[in-house]
Formats: sequence, C-alpha cells, structure tokens
Amino acid sequence: MPLFVCPGSKVKNPINSMPGNYQMSVDYIVEECKLLVDKGIKAILLFGIPSHKDDTGMVATHDDAIVQRAIKAIKSEINDIFLIADVCNCEYTVHGHCGTIVNNDVDNDLTLETLALQSLSFARVGVDMVAPSDMMDGRVGRIRQILDENGFYNMPIMSYAAKYASAFYGPFREAAESAPKFGDRASYQMNYANSDEAMREIALDIEEGADIIMVKPALSYLDIIRRAKDEFNIPIAAYNVSGEFSMVKAAAEKGWIDEKRIVREILTSIKRAGSDIILTYHAKDIADWL
Ligand code: PBG
Repeated sequence: MPLFVCPGSKVKNPINSMPGNYQMSVDYIVEECKLLVDKGIKAILLFGIPSHKDDTGMVATHDDAIVQRAIKAIKSEINDIFLIADVCNCEYTVHGHCGTIVNNDVDNDLTLETLALQSLSFARVGVDMVAPSDMMDGRVGRIRQILDENGFYNMPIMSYAAKYASAFYGPFREAAESAPKFGDRASYQMNYANSDEAMREIALDIEEGADIIMVKPALSYLDIIRRAKDEFNIPIAAYNVSGEFSMVKAAAEKGWIDEKRIVREILTSIKRAGSDIILTYHAKDIADWL
C-alpha cells in the first residue's frame, strides 16, 4: 500500500482525485500504518512531500528529510512492518523532473549521485527496501555500490525496471505534487508501443543487482508482466497505479460498476498475468473485502 507523508502534525489532506487517500503528517502516518498492519497489509511504500524543494533533490538525501522521519517514527512504534522507500527526485525538485537538469534536459549521470545519496540515507534510518522509480540508466548499479560500500549488503532493491511514460500517473502527480513544470518524462520513461525495450531494461537492472523488478502501470501492461515472468527468474512486482485506481473509484461513485467485484477482478488479473507482488491503492479496501 503506497502512502504519502507530508510535513506538520495532525495533517490529513484528502487527495481529490484519489478518494480515500491522503497526504498525512508523520504522526498520522504512524497511526495509518498500525491500522494497515492490523488488517494484514504489512508492506508499505512511502512517498514524500517535502516542506521545500530544490534544483537537484538534495533535500531528500538527509536523515531528517520527510520520508526518513516517517521511517524512523514508524519503525520505533511498529515491529511487524516492511517499509519500502520510493527513490526518485520528482517530488523534491522545483521543476518536477526525476533528475538534475542541465541545458533543459535531465542529466542521467549527475542524477545517479542524488539517487545514491537518497538511498543510502533511507538505509541509515532503517528502511527495509529501496525502490528506485526514476528510470535513469545505471541507477541500480550505483545504488547497489553505495549501499555495499557502507555495509548495507543485505538491503534489497526493487527496481521500477519497466516503467512506461503513462497518462495513468496523472492523479499521483497531484498527490505527490510532482508534475513536471516543463516537457515530459519521455526521455527517461519508456514508450508504451514497445515491449522488447522493457525486456532489455529488466535484463540490465537484474545485471546491475536488482532483487525484484517492477512493471508499471499494471492493467494496460499485463502482457509485459507475463513476458517478464516467462523470461526472467526473479520476483515480479506490478504497480496498479493512481489513474487505474481513480477510474474505478469514479465509476463506482457514479454507481456504474460494482466496485468490490471489479477490484477483485482487476487484482486477480494482475496476479494471473504473473506478478508476485502487487502495489495498489486498493490494498486497504480489499483487505476488508477478502
Ligand atoms: C515517481 C513516481 C511516479 C509514480 C511512482 N513513482 C510518477 C511519475 O513517474 O510521474 C506513479 C505512481 C502512481 O501513479 O500511482 N517518479
């Protein structure tokens, strides 16, 4: 279950386009995690909304940055929980791109450094797994290297390996306040017309040390999940993203579909396609319905 952590205390801002999801301050995130663990949802993916942004995302590389504070608080109060931190810069940069900008374009190799430092900081404060979602080339290898150099040999990496440039991320960008201020992410995310490229990206990430690879989005990409499952002997995660979630919620609110049956069918199809792990905003609801 993905959660969005923001500064302040007793803050619970509803995310309009994602009913039932909120930007929550650290105190409320801890309470939400307790509730989720009680329901049997024991793995949480954390995204951060910082109090201020900068040019490169360095604001997210300090041990007292927003997600790091949430990790420390959750870990000090809850034992039986697995915390995953999304590693990316788009929530932390003023321009909303996933990397450092040079000459109006994202500089791949400069970005690797902020991603590595962000990952190392998450490891230091006690995260259980890092999940790079930026799509820079070589980031899994660089993150593995910095983790190993600092003794975090056992820290797993779940790589967003096959991440498409998708309109389905729309609601998330409101939730994470991370929409790019100019251009788009097409130079680093994949073209959805192409499935061979996804296999190449996955192969590279495995070679660089990924422990789990992810396909994202899920529903329009069931063929990619199946191909990945057939071609690679590694756990496959699928991200049932914000737009996929919001469409279901909107239609359900209008009474046009049976939400419980639809959600069950969608999640089952993602599983059937071959995913071992599903990331979904429906997690909290379906835990009650199963
Ligand atoms: C950050 C990131 C995004 C999502 C997860 N990590 C947005 C993007 O790439 O624009 C999308 C998640 C969702 O839509 O639920 N790079």
